Amino acid sequence: MSFKTKMQEAEKSKNSRLVLALDFPFEASVNRKKMLEKAQRVLKAVHPYVCAVKINHHLTLPLGTFDGVQALVEQIRGEGMLAIMDAKVNDIGNTNQIIAEYYFAAGFDAIIANPFVGWEEGLKPLFDVSKRLNRGVILLAYMSHKGASEGYGQTIIDPETGQQTPQYVSFARKASKWGADGVVVGATVPQKIAEVKQILGEKVAIYSPGVGAQGGAAEAAVKAGANYLIVGREITNSNDPAQAAHMIYDSIKGI
Ligand code: XMP
Repeated sequence: MSFKTKMQEAEKSKNSRLVLALDFPFEASVNRKKMLEKAQRVLKAVHPYVCAVKINHHLTLPLGTFDGVQALVEQIRGEGMLAIMDAKVNDIGNTNQIIAEYYFAAGFDAIIANPFVGWEEGLKPLFDVSKRLNRGVILLAYMSHKGASEGYGQTIIDPETGQQTPQYVSFARKASKWGADGVVVGATVPQKIAEVKQILGEKVAIYSPGVGAQGGAAEAAVKAGANYLIVGREITNSNDPAQAAHMIYDSIKGI
């Protein structure tokens, strides 16, 4: 089963389109054990509202991929959710492949990569290893922060059509051509979500971060066409992560 289909199954069984970004503020390395326990507690509290969990350097750096994060991935999968590694892979092909192999060996179901590196000797080896191991690749199309306009928002001449084209439109087309399982478009730019949806339809799922702490609105992103919302600090920094997750879950249910 492809990652895209596994996500659809998890979405159905959890009745949720919410992806938790399991991010926490910086902690001194002596507090690593406490951080792991906090992450385990948050997972235990929010799992009824969440179909997948996205892990970032916030946890792989202090805990280590195989010393701490792998145990979290096992907990995530044990609760019927999928695990996504937000590595934003962005290097030469051989390195990209090895990065992915390590994260897949730790149990991750999918990895996020940056299409700016291109296909030949760039993302092709990562897609090849992902397909071989039956894991997913999600590509950035338009990031959620303001400076995204400088790269993802620039206008390029598309070498295939000779036409002036927004960079994120070109990336959405590449995501479809390369067989990506998803693209990331910020919840902060719902009109761009709608534009990308026009290109991809239901062929490639749209993942949308930037709700809450970055100013994006959950309902607007889903109405514009986001399949999944990625939410971090709004939940993980809350005094009651389960209630925070429940509120976002409720706000997009049935849209
Ligand atoms: P917050 O706390 O803002 O966290 O809800 C969002 C999480 O998502 C990551 N992020 C992105 N990841 N493309 C990505 O692949 C993006 O455009 C993007 N914007 C935010 C962020 O690092 C954090 O983990």
